[in-house]
Amino acid sequence: MLRIELRDRVSVVTGGARGIGRACAEALAQAGAHVAVVDLDHAGATETASDLTAQHGVTARAYACDVRDPAAIRATVDAAAKDFGGLDILVNNAGVQFVSPIADFPDDKYANVRAIDLDSVFYATKAAWPHLVRRGGGRIVNIASVHGLIASPYKIAYVASKHGVVGLTRASALEGAEHGITVNAICPGAVMTDLVRGQAPQLAESFGGGITEEQALERAFLEAMPTKRFIEPSEVGALCAFLCSDFAISITGAPVPIDGGWSAH
Ligand SMILES: NC(=O)c1ccc[n+]([C@@H]2O[C@H](COP(=O)([O-])OP(=O)(O)OC[C@H]3O[C@@H](n4cnc5c(N)ncnc54)[C@H](O)[C@@H]3O)[C@@H](O)[C@H]2O)c1
Repeated sequence: MLRIELRDRVSVVTGGARGIGRACAEALAQAGAHVAVVDLDHAGATETASDLTAQHGVTARAYACDVRDPAAIRATVDAAAKDFGGLDILVNNAGVQFVSPIADFPDDKYANVRAIDLDSVFYATKAAWPHLVRRGGGRIVNIASVHGLIASPYKIAYVASKHGVVGLTRASALEGAEHGITVNAICPGAVMTDLVRGQAPQLAESFGGGITEEQALERAFLEAMPTKRFIEPSEVGALCAFLCSDFAISITGAPVPIDGGWSAH
């Protein structure tokens, strides 16, 4: 029987309170992994952690952390490794979006997207690295985006950051191989989470008005996806758990699309 088995592996999931991060945490826990749920939203992370323990019998703990702060990332990863007795898996998932035409794109919003979506991946990878090396191997999964492979208008900070995540993934994979560490990027198309819902007003405005927010979401996302359906967070979680499993030992440095064919255009 083909079954993903991660019993007693220790994982850190950033942005694990809700959305795709929560779905990754659930899939890892379902496979038996213990989970450190790291998020700015401590209440949400606490709720996720207690649900994981209740539903899957694993140890799960919440850690409040703003991934814009490199020192906080290091302290959190070290604390999780200490609390759980080591570290096997890092899922870099925390991310935000900001939508605006270039000429109006606020500088502070550009810096914020880059700090969370790109720079935090470097700092968390750096913090986790010695723990994974000490274990003799491990898994890093970076939640990039289809926008790590192709571009869309009005998302310059996000597209640049996610392309950067694919680059970080490739570079880390090359260095990780000798230590038994695989590093891959998941590149989802449109997954219906708060991150997508939150773009509706700005998208409607960017398209020149005259359309509803729902129409703006469909125009921005579903027109680009040949399958014409929003992806479920659990689909991304399952792919994440697979990439963390022993089945995926030879998959590394790969940006893996789960995008309903979006990047096949
Ligand atoms: N939803 C999509 O369609 C989609 C598509 C491709 C890629 N992604 C990527 O998936 C990841 C998760 O997105 P989502 O759709 O689940 O979003 P979401 O908004 O539902 O969840 C994001 C999580 O990250 C946390 N977070 C945000 N800023 C943080 C910070 N500074 N420090 C710590 N935690 C922080 C939030 O509190 C939240 O729990 C992101 O990297 C996103 O770019 C999403």
